[in-house]
Formats: sequence, structure tokens, C-alpha cells
Amino acid sequence: MLRRIVIFNAFCVFFAASYIVVPGPAYPATKGEIWPKPQQETKEWTYYKLSPAVFKFTVKGKTCDILKAAIERYTSVLRTTHHIAWKHTKKTWKKVESRSTAADPDFKGALQELQINLLAPCEVYPHLEMNEKYSLKVSGISKLESDSIWGILRGMESFAQLFYMAKGYKDVLINATQIVDFPRYTYRGLLIDTSRHYITVANILKTLDAMEMNKMNVLHWHIVDDQSFPYQSEKFPQLSLQGAYDPSMVYTKTNIIQIVSYARDRGIRVLPEFDVPGHTRSWGVAYPSILTKCYQYGQVVGLGPMDPTNNVTYKLIGDLFREVQERFPDKYFHLGGDEVAMECWSSNPDLINFMSEHNMTKPSELHAYFMTKVIPLLGQKSKPIVWQEVFDEGVKLPSDTIVQVWKTVGAQDMIPILEAGHKVVYSSSWYLDKLDGGDGWSKFYTVDPRQQITTDVLDLNNIVGGEACMWGEVVDDTNLISRTWPRASAVAEILWRAPEPQYSLSSVMDITTRMEEQVCRMNHRGIQAQPPNGPGFCPIETL
Ligand SMILES: *[C@@H]1O[C@H](CO)[C@@H](O)[C@H](O)[C@H]1NC(C)=O
Ligand SMILES: *[C@@H]1O[C@H](CO)[C@@H](O)[C@H](O)[C@H]1NC(C)=O
Ligand SMILES: *[C@@H]1O[C@H](CO)[C@@H](O)[C@H](O)[C@H]1NC(C)=O
Repeated sequence: MLRRIVIFNAFCVFFAASYIVVPGPAYPATKGEIWPKPQQETKEWTYYKLSPAVFKFTVKGKTCDILKAAIERYTSVLRTTHHIAWKHTKKTWKKVESRSTAADPDFKGALQELQINLLAPCEVYPHLEMNEKYSLKVSGISKLESDSIWGILRGMESFAQLFYMAKGYKDVLINATQIVDFPRYTYRGLLIDTSRHYITVANILKTLDAMEMNKMNVLHWHIVDDQSFPYQSEKFPQLSLQGAYDPSMVYTKTNIIQIVSYARDRGIRVLPEFDVPGHTRSWGVAYPSILTKCYQYGQVVGLGPMDPTNNVTYKLIGDLFREVQERFPDKYFHLGGDEVAMECWSSNPDLINFMSEHNMTKPSELHAYFMTKVIPLLGQKSKPIVWQEVFDEGVKLPSDTIVQVWKTVGAQDMIPILEAGHKVVYSSSWYLDKLDGGDGWSKFYTVDPRQQITTDVLDLNNIVGGEACMWGEVVDDTNLISRTWPRASAVAEILWRAPEPQYSLSSVMDITTRMEEQVCRMNHRGIQAQPPNGPGFCPIETL
């Protein structure tokens, strides 16, 4: 919080007299600066021009379908975002080149090629320990190198972001640049919620495009919840037939295969969440017997969380999870476990009996009992991720369980989890569904999960990353993209790079003007990110 004040102070110093209005954009966009900012970057004054008639991607090392698709994708990015450059044929280009070389000694001619040198065979799917390090050298013949396909993908995105338009928007330029880059956190996630509102497959794919542009690597798909059950199951078709908002508002097997493979091509994991035992009311439209009857004054008043005393509950969960595991290849499976309505459990006479038979004194022990039975249903195929309540309520978790912290901003909730030896994903500070005034992103920028912990006895590498959460109560197809972006971009940069140790006027200007460019870049690539910093404009190419 203190840091946020520093930012605003810096702005105040800059605009000392607030009644003075300066014409033009509040924060002019940078030119060819990468978001998230690379770890090490040196830029020179010498520069090249993009002539698509000349430029090509070439493969020097290993290759695979992911790399081939990426070359096609980035060729198209350069073509569609820089169509000005594309109008030159080889012939007209020769003229442009000779004219400008004479006029400017820093100009080194046409960018010839990007040589891509992948040093090891491709992995099949991105994963928690994926290596995303790359090095990039831009000169006439540019070079991108990485030990991993995932590093190559990150480097190609950086390369595409280095281009900028010359004054007058007639030429596309790139400066000679050297980069060595890698992420600080291996888990950089975005949660989407497709239960509160159905999100079309097209918008999920667009979200993946935006994630790629911001180097985020986990799409946490909170697919079902109380309100609707849009996952279409082959084993249990009634779940979505009865539980979806509409039988058409579902994700079929084909949809999921498409989303997972689109994400994989971009180095993004798709982490499915089937939240149990709470947030499951929509399961009970077709299968009411797996939910607990809630009582008031001796009367049943409705259905609550799953019934932990009913064997049928576990049979259904186990069979469904095996199907889900076939569709989502990720090695982790999110079991939810948050916000269980224990009042319902402790209102039910059968459950009260069950508790006393099992020597349980608190309903949270039922939660523990439930999770202890559900976790083994994942078998060897995936490891669990759970919301923090599961840990807080004392469930004995397998040591490789990741715990997602969302309740308290700061270190407090993370410390006991780390002490118990679990990995942590932090999201308390990044609930994007909550709106407030102002730019909407700077407060997200000032949080670094590891820096919140001051004791040095804990292994901070066990904080594997963080996640921006875009819950869907007031978010549907009409506003998903503009509400998420660029606010999630702030989280993406922190998780990639960590904040500046000390904010200064120049670092605030650097962040703000780069953010401006990143938003324009997303707009040019078809993502309707909202304006980040007040008045301004995105340059457009003039034909
Ligand atoms: C890129 O090159 C141009 C042209 O020489 C120069 O004006 C600009 O300052 C360079 N950018 C950076 C970040 O060095
Ligand atoms: C439920 O399963 C348990 C353990 O597998 C068994 O002891 C119990 O009899 C079963 N209850 C019913 C109602 O099937
Ligand atoms: C409950 O506690 C009693 C007394 O300590 C013990 O005899 C019994 O075995 C316990 N029951 C269960 C299910 O743990």
C-alpha cells in the first residue's frame, strides 16, 4: 500500500500545478519496448527496417509442430500489424533502402532474418518447471536461442514487440538489441470463470492470445460452479443437459481439445478446476442425491455442499475426474475446496449423527474427511491444487499439493503453508473482478509475493507464482477482454520481472509509457484492452 502512495506522489511532483492542462496524450507510448520488461536488455542506436519482401524466419536447430506454428503465427503478426511495410515489393524496397542509408548513418538497411536456434527437442506440453529462458540478438542477421521450445516462444514474442513505427508511420523499424531473459516465477496465471457467465470459445482463445502477448503461462479454468455446469461430460451427459444455463452453453470435448492445443502452441498450460465440495449447486440439478439437504426448524430448506457421507458422491466425482484428466493433459488438477457452507452440514441430522459416530466435533473435520477421500481419486495422473481453506482447516495434504492463497493480502496466510513445505500460488492482491477508480492497474503492480515475506528461514522458491483472478459474476463476453486487459498485464510483468526495488519518477514514467505501448500493441493485434492511463491515442499506420 505504501508503494502505491509513492507512485501517486511521483505523479503529483510531475504535474505540480493540477489546473495546467497540456494538450496531447497524458503518457506518450514508448517505441518498441517489451512488456513484460526483459531481465537484461541493451539497445543501440543503429537500426534496421522491416521489409517483409526481405525478412524471413529461419530454423537453425531442432524444430517441431509448435515452432512451425509459431513461425506462421508471428509472420502473420508482422504482416497484419505492420501492413505498411508489407506493401513494398523487393523492387520498391531497394529504392527505400538506398534512399535512407544515405540520409542516416545509424540506419543499417533491411532486417534480413531471425535465426531460431532451439537447442533441445520440444517438450510435448508446457508444465510447472518449464524453462522459458532465451537470448535474442537483433542485428542484420538476428539470432534467437533457447534450450527449450517455451523459451523460443517467449523470445519470438519479444522480437515481435521490438518493432515500432518511424515518425510519420511510414516505416517499421527495429533497433540493434541484445536480450537475455527469463521469468522470476514459473507460474504466471489468469483465472477465468465460465459458470457465472458463459464465455464463448472464441473469447477464451482471444484470452490466450492476450496471455501470450504478456508471457502468462497458466490459464486456470474455473469451469463449473453453483450457477451453471457448462462442462459437457460423456459419462454424465445430464450434468450439463440439466445444469448448464442452456444446453447450447457448453464446452464439448472438441472445444476443450481445441482450447488445450491452442494454449499449448503458445506455451500456456490449461489448469482445470472442478471445485468441490462447495460451489457445486449446479451438479445437483441432475444429481440431487450427492448434495447435502440443509435444514431450518426441522424442515429441508434447500441443497448445500456435497454430501460427504454418501458413497455415491465419491463414485461420481472419481468417474468424472478420470474423464476430465483425459481431456486436460496438465499434471495439476484444481480441486477448489473454498467457501464450504458448513452451516448446512451442521444443520443436517444425518450428518450430525455421522459426525458423532466419527468423533468429529467441528464441521471443518467433515471438510477434512471429504478432501482426504477426494484427493486419492486423482490417482497418479495429476497432483492437486487447492484453495487455502483446505490447508487452513487442517486437512493432511500430500506434500506435493500446491495451495492457492486468496484471503489475505500480504504474507500472513502464506507463511504457515510454506512452513508445512507446500508450494504456494498467490492471488490475494489480484482479484480483477473488483473495480476501483483510476487507472485500475497500478495497485496490482506494486505487489511481489516473495518480497512480502521478510523472514529468511523459508524457501521462497516455494512461492511458485501468482494468479490474476477474473471472477465472472459481472463479466461476460461483452466485457471479459477489456476488464482483464491491461489490468492483468500489470500482474504479468511483476511475475515475470518483479517490481523496481525503489519507485522513482523515472521508473513510474517508464512503466506507464511502456504500458501505453503494450495496450496499443494489444489493440493492433485484435485485443480490446482498455486505455490504461487516461487521455491518449494509439498511432495507426497511414496507407
Ligand atoms: C533506437 O534507434 C533510434 C535511431 O537511431 C534512436 O533515436 C533511439 O534512441 C534508439 N532507441 C533506444 C531505446 O536506444
Ligand atoms: C460406503 O463405503 C464404505 C467404505 O468403502 C463402506 O464401509 C460402507 O458400507 C458404504 N456405505 C454404503 C451405504 O454403501
Ligand atoms: C471414537 O472415540 C471412542 C472413544 O475414544 C473410541 O472408542 C472410538 O473407536 C472412536 N471412533 C472412531 C470412529 O474413531
